[in-house]
Order: sequence, then structure tokens, then C-alpha cells
Amino acid sequence: MTIDSKDTIDPLRLPQHVAIIMDGNGRWAKEKGKLRVFGHKNGVKAVRDTVEGAVEIGVKYLTLYAFSTENWNRPKLEVSALMELLVSTLSKETKTLMKNGVRLQAIGDLAQLPGRCYKGLQEVIAQTGNNTNSTLTLALSYSARWEITEAAKQLAKAALEGSIQPDEIDEKLFSQYLSTRDMPDPELLIRTSGEQRISNYLLWQLAYSELYFTPKMWPEFRKADLFEAIAAYQKRERRFGMTSEQLNS
Ligand code: FPP
Repeated sequence: MTIDSKDTIDPLRLPQHVAIIMDGNGRWAKEKGKLRVFGHKNGVKAVRDTVEGAVEIGVKYLTLYAFSTENWNRPKLEVSALMELLVSTLSKETKTLMKNGVRLQAIGDLAQLPGRCYKGLQEVIAQTGNNTNSTLTLALSYSARWEITEAAKQLAKAALEGSIQPDEIDEKLFSQYLSTRDMPDPELLIRTSGEQRISNYLLWQLAYSELYFTPKMWPEFRKADLFEAIAAYQKRERRFGMTSEQLNS
């Protein structure tokens, strides 16, 4: 399965941006009679392999939903374990990010992160800032409704100050106020664990994305699964509201 999928990928029609909802860590651990944190720790292996796969194949942007606004409501112990895992993973992986030319970015309400986590994150962002092979974006303390509301707030302020006119607001200007302003929209969204929801992730940016759901739990996801998702994406016809005939003419 692994080699076949990679071989069938057309390098000229790669998605530039792949977004992933990493789901199923808790259930995977529970199936094994372990604590949820065990699932998250194994989820890091999946992150590592997926990032490597994305770089290997030439995907320019990979955006991972690492912690949602709603995740703050999880048991305190799980939240702090996740934050610790984030800090330790980032510092351990900086070398590999540098070696692979990956730039790290983060989107979300980062001010909510514990100080140590915020600081660690900013350090790796600064250190990898000049890398140009791929951009890895972590959505942390992120929710799309929060992001859209923030954009609306900033636009309203700009209008009040007179730096923009309300009539100037169009989709292009609006997207400039989102945290993804410097990236193309994802052509492909992958969600693991068999759930088929968007869960408040990149609601604006996913407007025309192809959605790919796999029953595989996140800790078991590997680059071969990424390749399989991309191969499946390339078999789809993206019509953007047009007809097949229009696209093919
Ligand atoms: C979803 O599984 C996963 C998360 C909320 C956290 C994802 C975090 C990691 C993979 C580890 C750290 C990440 C990085 C980028 C270093 P879930 O807990 O919702 O699983 P469940 O649906 O089975 O309960």
C-alpha cells in the first residue's frame, strides 16, 4: 500500500496545503488499556513521520490541529500533559526541522498558552523563521469562530479609524485579517479516527477543500497514510461550482 500510493502521486498536481485534524489519541490509548496521555505521546510519532512525509513529497504547507479552544475544558492533568508534550517535542525536534528546512508557525489564541509553552514556541518559530522548504503550522488554542470573530473585530476597528471603508471589505480583504493570511487555502483536509466533522477548524479556509476521512487513529497514522490521502485527492475532480464540461474545455 505504502510504496504504491507514493508512486501514483503526480508531483505536478500536489496539494500545496494539507490540513489535518489529528483525532483518536484517547480512544487508541483506551483500547490498549492505557491512559489518554499515552495516546498523545504516540501521537507525536505520527506528527514526526507525517511532517517528514510532507517534506519528502514537496507539500509546502502542513497545518495540524494540535489543541482547540474547546480542549481547554479537558481534565487539568490532560491539558498540562499536552502542554508539556508540546514544549518537549518542540525543543527535541528543532534540529530535524532545521535539517529539513521546515519553518514553524502557530495560529490561535496563543496568549492563553502557559508562559513556558508560549516562550518555547516563539523560540522555535524564531529559529526556523528563515527555512523555506515547507511551513508547518500548529493550530493551538485555536477555533475558527474565534479567528473569524477576531478578524471582524479588527476590520471594525480599521473602519472606525477610517483606514478602510466598509464597502472595501470583500473576501480578499477579509482573508487578510485571518491568521492564515500568508498561506494558500488547504486543498485537502484529512481527519483521522473515523469521525466526519470539521470541529471548528479553518472554517473559512476549507470552503473548497476536499475532505478525506480515514478510520485510522492518529497515533497509527504514518507518511504512507498521507501519501494515500494525496493519491485519493488527485483522483477527485475539483469543480468549484462549475460543470465538468466547463473544466475540461
Ligand atoms: C486528538 O485526540 C488529539 C489532540 C487533542 C492533541 C493532539 C496532540 C498531539 C498529537 C501531540 C502533540 C502535538 C504536537 C504538534 C507536538 P483526542 O484526544 O481527541 O482523541 P479521542 O477523540 O480518541 O478522545
